[in-house]
Amino acid sequence: MLRFPLIVLNFKVYPEVIGENCIRLAKYAEEVADEYGVGVAVAPPITMLSRVVNSVGIPVFAQHVDPYLPGSWTGSTIVEMIKECGAVGSIVNHSERRVLLADISMVIKRLKENGLIPLLCTDTVDTTRAGAALYPDILAVEPPELIGTGIPVSKAKPEIVVGAVDVVKKINPSIHILCGAGISAGEDVAKAIELGTEGVLLSSAYVKAKNPKSILSSMAESAVKAWEKNQSSR
Ligand code: G3P
Repeated sequence: MLRFPLIVLNFKVYPEVIGENCIRLAKYAEEVADEYGVGVAVAPPITMLSRVVNSVGIPVFAQHVDPYLPGSWTGSTIVEMIKECGAVGSIVNHSERRVLLADISMVIKRLKENGLIPLLCTDTVDTTRAGAALYPDILAVEPPELIGTGIPVSKAKPEIVVGAVDVVKKINPSIHILCGAGISAGEDVAKAIELGTEGVLLSSAYVKAKNPKSILSSMAESAVKAWEKNQSSR
C-alpha cells in the first residue's frame, strides 16, 4: 500500500487547500508519484477526505482522529469514519494537534484493529523513544520550532534525525521513520534519507508554492537518487 522512499504531504488547513485547489494539489502528487516511482501520500483537511480519496489513487491519510468508539461524542472524528471515507490511515499527535499519551496509545491500537496505518509524530529523540514503544507503522520526528520556517530539520538539526533513527532501529526496526519541519527542497529530502530516514513529512513548501508540482518533482527526484545510493552502499 505504501511505497518508499515516501513523501507525505500534510495539507493542514491552509487557505490553498479549501475547495477545488485541494484536489488539484492531490492530483499533482499522484502524477509525481507515478512519474518518479516514489511514494507520495497526502493528508487533506477532514472535509475533503472523501473527495480526495475519490480523485486520486495514492494513499490518503486523515490529519487527526479521535480515540473514541462510535457513540455520543459530538463533533468528533473517529477511526470508523475515516476508514469509511477510504483513508489508509491517520497522522497521530501532530504538534499542532497534540494528543494525551493514553489517547495516542488508544488511537494507534484502534487504527491497527481497523486495518489502518498510524503515522505518529514526535518532536524529540526522547518522545521518539516513547512513541516507538507504542508500535506505530510510521513515525515522523518534527521539531515544532522549525515547522513552517523553511529551515529544514535535516540540515539544521541532523542530530535529532539521527537520534530518532537510532532509537527506532533499537526499539522496533520495522517502524518506518520519516522526518519533517522546514523541508523545502530536493536537497533537504536527500539529506533526510542520507541521515537514515525513509522519507519526509512536509507541508508549506508544497501547499504554498507558486509551482507545487515542480518543487515536488525535484523532491521526488532527489529522494530516489538518495534512496538508491543508500541501498547500494548497504
Ligand atoms: O506535518 C508537516 C509539518 O508540520 C511540517 O510543516 O510547513 O515545515 O513543512 P512545514
